[in-house]
Amino acid sequence: MLPTLTLPNGRITTTLGFGCASLLRLPDPVDRQRLLDIAVDHGIRHLDVARLYGLGLAEGELSCLLRRHPGALSVATKFGLGEAGPPSGAAQRQGGLRRLLILVPALRSLAKQIHRSHLLARNFSTDHCRQSLHTSLSQLGLEAVDLFLLHEPSPADLIPAELGDTLQELQRQGLIGSYGLSGDWSDCLNLLATRPCLAGGWLQWEDDLLNPAPPFAPLHSGQPARYGRFGRIRCSLHTIRQYLAAVPQLQRHWSERLNCSLAEDVVLGAALLGASMASDPEALLLYSTTDPVRLARTLALLNDPPWNASEAIAFEAFWRPPAAISFSP
Ligand SMILES: NC(=O)c1ccc[n+]([C@@H]2O[C@H](COP(=O)([O-])OP(=O)(O)OC[C@H]3O[C@@H](n4cnc5c(N)ncnc54)[C@H](OP(=O)(O)O)[C@@H]3O)[C@@H](O)[C@H]2O)c1
Repeated sequence: MLPTLTLPNGRITTTLGFGCASLLRLPDPVDRQRLLDIAVDHGIRHLDVARLYGLGLAEGELSCLLRRHPGALSVATKFGLGEAGPPSGAAQRQGGLRRLLILVPALRSLAKQIHRSHLLARNFSTDHCRQSLHTSLSQLGLEAVDLFLLHEPSPADLIPAELGDTLQELQRQGLIGSYGLSGDWSDCLNLLATRPCLAGGWLQWEDDLLNPAPPFAPLHSGQPARYGRFGRIRCSLHTIRQYLAAVPQLQRHWSERLNCSLAEDVVLGAALLGASMASDPEALLLYSTTDPVRLARTLALLNDPPWNASEAIAFEAFWRPPAAISFSP
């Protein structure tokens, strides 16, 4: 079984959440629903999405899964990046472009750059916040979301002082369980220095295994805020795989200690995720893949790990760079 944690609104969910940022990379809706079903059938109970994902279509995709599991899944969504309104006609027609990107993967980074530089609105106004939540709830088919997060905010964004009051009001109205920030940890930290009320009850940030954010001791109104991490293996898995392949003794050593074969990509990915979960059991860990076989095998390993927790913690510590500095906003 996957371990659990309690969200700020009291809902119990799994410490491993499935991220939907890449869901629309699968051009066929049947494949998207199959992927989400695999996640839930293997015990995932938390889904992370954003108004932006899939050019606005990811929340609608998620609504089909949520209807199949009423009340059983926690959901985090985000606002401030991209449009607050329902998906445009162009977004609805993205399937053709997605198929082209599968055929010519080299075009993917160009498409991402064009999207980021030309199409990506940044808007953290109170009106945009309310409109975005309204659209998200209607797209998701929910009356409330568990977490409602500013999406990649930075101190350079125009963020009105009243935004904290607006978020608190939405919370009082029962439309959001809690609110907070999701993005780069140093941007979040710098923003909190001037807008501490935006911390709400939740923070989540990018925390690459080989380039981790400093250990976090967040305090909000004297209470520890709860937190999540993402981007744990996206960049580091490739480097770690190459390192282990180049030093076979090391690969053997850790395979024996973890009681599994780290020569297999999927096992290595699962072991690194399992090591992160064991090292920081209080944190939510977001994971994503578009590969159904990879997802099923990863979750099978995490549900019934062949390693014991102390060895997993040692494995993560092995890759952690020294001299991390702790911080507290
Ligand atoms: N600013 C924000 O708020 C923000 C930013 C980034 C992410 N997020 C959230 O966090 C979620 C997870 O983020 P992430 O995608 O960075 O996390 P991640 O789980 O660290 O990395 C996922 C990437 O790793 C690949 N992968 C997964 N398992 C693998 C394996 N066994 N072997 C080789 N490659 C593997 C996946 O590719 P395949 O699809 O090919 O498997 C995917 O590209 C996102 O979906 C999103 O919900 C939030």
